[in-house]
Amino acid sequence: MTDRLNPVRVAIVGAGSVAETSHLPAIRAQDASVQAVAVVDLDLQRARDFADRWGIPAVYDDVEQLLREAAPDLVIVCTPPVAHRGAVLACLEAGAWVWCEKPPTLSLAEYDEIAAHEVEGGPYVSYVFQQRFGSAARALREHIRTGRLGTPLIGICHTLWYRAGAYYEVPWRGKWSTEGGGTTMSHGIHQMDLMLSLMGEWTEVRAATGTLARRVETEDASMAIVRFASGAMVSMVSSVLSPREASYLRFDFPEATVELTHLYGYDNTDWRWTPAPHRAGDTPADLGAPEENEASSHTVQLRRLLADLRHGRRPEASGDDGRRVLAFIAALYQAAHTGQPVTPDQITPENPFYHRMNGQPLAPAGAQSQDIHV
Ligand SMILES: NC(=O)c1ccc[n+]([C@@H]2O[C@H](COP(=O)([O-])OP(=O)(O)OC[C@H]3O[C@@H](n4cnc5c(N)ncnc54)[C@H](O)[C@@H]3O)[C@@H](O)[C@H]2O)c1
Repeated sequence: MTDRLNPVRVAIVGAGSVAETSHLPAIRAQDASVQAVAVVDLDLQRARDFADRWGIPAVYDDVEQLLREAAPDLVIVCTPPVAHRGAVLACLEAGAWVWCEKPPTLSLAEYDEIAAHEVEGGPYVSYVFQQRFGSAARALREHIRTGRLGTPLIGICHTLWYRAGAYYEVPWRGKWSTEGGGTTMSHGIHQMDLMLSLMGEWTEVRAATGTLARRVETEDASMAIVRFASGAMVSMVSSVLSPREASYLRFDFPEATVELTHLYGYDNTDWRWTPAPHRAGDTPADLGAPEENEASSHTVQLRRLLADLRHGRRPEASGDDGRRVLAFIAALYQAAHTGQPVTPDQITPENPFYHRMNGQPLAPAGAQSQDIHV
């Protein structure tokens, strides 16, 4: 570690809900070698109030000014999705590492544009996918890699959440041009990223989306059937219409069924390891349930990101590893909009779904200005 990175100077862009409930607690949970030095919000009073609550010394309403005056090592971008691209590019140009909230960008085109501004050895951009980082998920990923439970056969990946109409009164929600997509892109993305990070390469997706009950231009429900290179088949559902909320992942292997039932985060107690009949009597530990019990959280992902920053190496959920779920969701939307199965090789810059998740041409400059004021 160089002296310049002790402490690591962290800035927050976007002093809203997720910054308050997840990011400042995650920073405070690290040791004293990490300091929140500045906060930025278009709403300067909101930034001031946030800074007062958390004891942050500097506030700005402009990212460029933050970068010039506070020179942070790491910037955490917590703005609505429409503002991710601009903030992340400005940070990379100024040499700051970035941890950006999900969904990473509005489109794959934006994602690849950002990736082209990364530099070998840093700065890199990592994206918030905190569900990958619990100890049980890490153990299962290793078991799938080594084949300990056999090749995965059947999977379920359900995000059954509930968001009432008032949730969509916030101007940036429910619109392709500001949120990038509907519940698949905003909520299902967590479980989908976890599923894809465990199951490896997908080879085909069939899907349907619907806007059943909320007044949004995006979808409030989606269903997909996915095939993987391993041969596994997975059913995926994303919904904001499910009063008894649950996030449910299931993996059926020849040797065992492994299930995760939670809502917004888990620890080992949310996982169930059931032996196949020919292994009746085996305990979860026999099947590979880990002893270490680290919950999934922003705190764990940040700790690992900080270690990578200090060593100048690409973090997890960055580059191709951060792009995987976005490419998958672009394909899911194409499959739903066309009624045809979609394969990964179809998601290229020639494909309209690479540029916009609804496959529609971009509106002429200025036409979206109402949407973009978030
Ligand atoms: N990982 C998770 O579990 C999780 C949970 C909730 C939200 N999120 C994501 O976090 C992001 C923010 O969500 P939220 O619920 O906190 O939103 P929010 O509306 O509560 O807060 C966003 C803040 O960003 C500010 N802002 C908007 N544009 C800006 C700009 N250009 N520069 C500076 N500030 C700007 C707004 O004034 C607002 O204070 C979204 O991408 C969302 O999908 C992630």
